[in-house]
Amino acid sequence: MSVHLTRQDEFALITLDRQEALNALSSAVLRELAQAFDQVAGSDARALIVTGAGAKAFCAGADIKELTGRSLSEQRRDAAFGQAVLARLDDLPMFSVAAINGYAFGGGLELALACTFRLATKNAKMGQPEIKLGTIPGYGGTQRLPRVIGEARAMELVLTGRTVGAEEAERIGLVNRLVEGDPVEAGLAFAREFTGYSLPVLGFAREAVQRALDLPLNEGLKVECDLSTLSFQTEDSDEGAAAFEEKRKPKFRDA
Ligand code: CAA
Repeated sequence: MSVHLTRQDEFALITLDRQEALNALSSAVLRELAQAFDQVAGSDARALIVTGAGAKAFCAGADIKELTGRSLSEQRRDAAFGQAVLARLDDLPMFSVAAINGYAFGGGLELALACTFRLATKNAKMGQPEIKLGTIPGYGGTQRLPRVIGEARAMELVLTGRTVGAEEAERIGLVNRLVEGDPVEAGLAFAREFTGYSLPVLGFAREAVQRALDLPLNEGLKVECDLSTLSFQTEDSDEGAAAFEEKRKPKFRDA
């Protein structure tokens, strides 16, 4: 098994562990990832942390050795499968945090982009180098990268295939934060900053922000209006207001 799913307190942790190939995404690894995402989806984890085993790589992308000798229909099927696996990650009911601990290239960066948040160690290096292999990103990079860093920067990274270091990645918003020490511990600490809030309300907030990128402003504002109204229907919203009045810390019950 190259994908380990473990529990760390109230969080799920997925570790890619195929260090001899810098944790590259073979089709077998993608199938294992799909199963792991399904298990996380059905669990009570408050967030998911995704990382790579070893100090060298988060994930070096699709397994290049599997990319040759395929027919057109096999290539299309494989790209669609990779996209579908990462869509399961994107669609998880809980937040996900990529703890990028080294190289994140091609499908590896696409895996991180399908997470809600990205943290990176200072030695991390990222990019969409597919153009250098005579191809283009196929697991969602051309669609998620512009949504995260804007069209002009994404266009440049996809067309040049150049490597982005950790500091530049933070500056352009490709990663939320740079972290020191154990990246998994940093991911857990980051998740604890918000997972104590009401989970259903966090879900409304996440959905509203996500929809902003897909909808015209007037429709997005309607979505916000509906989700904001829904949030006021929760017991946690009553508790938040009561705690403010009573000058105490709220006790949210995810209800
Ligand atoms: N697929 C398969 N094997 C890979 C791999 C990959 N993506 N990346 C690294 N490996 C293997 C190497 O072949 C090597 O194995 P051997 O020892 O058996 O030769 C081992 O991992 C260690 O790699 P290197 O010796 O190359 O390590 P390095 O430190 O010198 O270089 C690196 C590290 C810069 C990340 C380099 O390995 C590299 O450029 N890897 C490829 C990155 C890449 O192009 N990724 C995109 C893949 S295509 C894609 O992902 C399409 C998509 O959108 C889904």
